[in-house]
This record gives sequence, C-alpha cells and structure tokens, in this order.
Amino acid sequence: MVKARRLKRRREEERRRKDRDLIKTVEEVFDSFTLSHVFRLEKKGIIWELKGVVSSGKEARVYWGKDKRGNDIAVKIYLSATAEFRKSIKKYILGDPRFESIPRGNFRKLIYEWTRKEYRNLKKMKKSGVRVPEPYSFSGNVLVMEFLGESGYRAPLIVEVIEELPIEEIQGYFDDIIENYKRMVCGAGLIHADLSEYNIMVWQDKPWIIDVSQAVALGHPNAQEFLERDIVNLLRFFGKFIDITYSENDLLEELSRCLIEMEG
Ligand SMILES: Nc1ncnc2c1ncn2[C@@H]1O[C@H](COP(=O)(O)OP(=O)(O)O)[C@@H](O)[C@H]1O
Ligand SMILES: [Mg+2]
Repeated sequence: MVKARRLKRRREEERRRKDRDLIKTVEEVFDSFTLSHVFRLEKKGIIWELKGVVSSGKEARVYWGKDKRGNDIAVKIYLSATAEFRKSIKKYILGDPRFESIPRGNFRKLIYEWTRKEYRNLKKMKKSGVRVPEPYSFSGNVLVMEFLGESGYRAPLIVEVIEELPIEEIQGYFDDIIENYKRMVCGAGLIHADLSEYNIMVWQDKPWIIDVSQAVALGHPNAQEFLERDIVNLLRFFGKFIDITYSENDLLEELSRCLIEMEG
C-alpha cells in the first residue's frame, strides 16, 4: 500500500519535472494557450519530449520531438501572426467550401482552424497515396506528424541538395512529384497552392511534399489560379537542371480536367 503510494508520488514528481523541462523549451516563445495544447498532447503520449527547433519561420515553428514510445515526431506550432498572415489565412480558408463558418475577428479560432486544415489535408493526401508526412494528431495550434530526418537532423529541402544530384535522379524526382501532384489533385481533390522547391523535402531517396496548410479544395474560387502557379513554379525550378519533356499546357489541361470533373 505504502509502496504503491510512494510509486505514485514518484511518478507525479517525474511528470512535474518533465513538464518543467518542456516549459523550459517553449516558455520564451509560447503563450499559455499554446502550452495547454502541448500538455494536452503530452498527456495522450503523442508528445513526450520537445528536443529542439528544426525551423523557425515567421508563422510557424517546427520542433523535433519524441513520442511516448521514443519515436521521432515533428511538432509544428503556429504562432500568433503578422497581419499579412491573417490576411492570407482568410483568403485560403474563406473561399474553401469546407471552411465557411469561421467566426470573424477571432484570431485564435482562425489559427486553430488553420492547424486543423493542415491536419485534414495531410490525412486526405496520405489516403490518396501522396507522399506527405503522416499526420498523428493536433490540438489547437499544435500539429504532430512524422519526422522526416534522422537523429534530430531534418532531411534537406530539394533546393538544398539539387545541385549535388545526378541528372537522372533529378529527372526521377521530377516525374515522381508530378505523379504525386496528380494524386493530390485527381485523388484527394486538393491543390497545394504553395508548391515550390522550399516545400519539398528529400528523404530516403524520395521527394516528400510538405507544408499543406494552405491547400484548397477544388471548389475554391481560386483553384485554377493556384493550380497554375504550382505547376509553373515546379517547371521553372526543375527546368534549370533538366530538360522538361512535359508541356506546360498538356499538364495543366490534364490536371484541370480533374478539377472540372471533381467539381461537377
Ligand atoms: N515533417 C517534418 N519533418 C522534418 N522537418 C520538417 C517537417 N515539416 C517541416 N519541416 C521543416 O520545417 C520547415 C518549415 O515547415 P513548413 O511546414 O514548410 O512551414 P512554413 O514554411 O510555413 O514555416 C521546413 O522547411 C522543413 O525544414
Ligand atoms: Mg514551408
């Protein structure tokens, strides 16, 4: 009896110590809302440790962490944001038929919706066979997904390694991305809307598409424009390294057909 109580107390102390460690990692950056979401995921065992910052962008910070079983996780946390970000969030969310009911002016709710959107987009893409990180869970502004990388080192972005790659490999990556993009549009019914060499990682000799919070459903009023922008970005970047055999028009036509079919 006494032993059991002592054990329980020790567990409590351990947890509190761990909480303090977690807070140490994040306290300078995060508000109490963010902390409460981190702790909620911690209680579920989805986040066990936050070990270090992988990327510190204007809007989101990405951490390397561990889950309860010791597996690597990537934790993306959306921070309170610039006016510019608010505007762009609204542009992507409000035109999307899935997200028409966002309360006006409530910024925290908007950020939560944004996080949920990235989670749902990842789920949907994964299910359609698009190579994206597997989403594990989310709470509030905190999203947990598969970590692309090893021992805390993230995998490189394609822009960081392309110059070292042999031509055939670049060709293979390009074909692979086109194939994955088709699955995204024609299978998942989503358009990435921010596809570029900065949102493709290279991991285990394959390209992975990341950063899908702004991806929109095909019914979005700007769907066609976003689709074209993605394709133009892709062709422009790869065109610097390989001969592109696809014609921009054919590619756009093929993808637009899916857009029209899925919409109709
Ligand atoms: N699942 C992941 N595993 C490892 N690193 C990641 C993962 N997702 C993102 N990153 C890293 O974090 C950076 C920022 O993530 P991203 O989703 O592109 O957000 P944003 O560009 O909006 O800041 C990426 O460029 C990449 O370096
Ligand atoms: Mg990005």
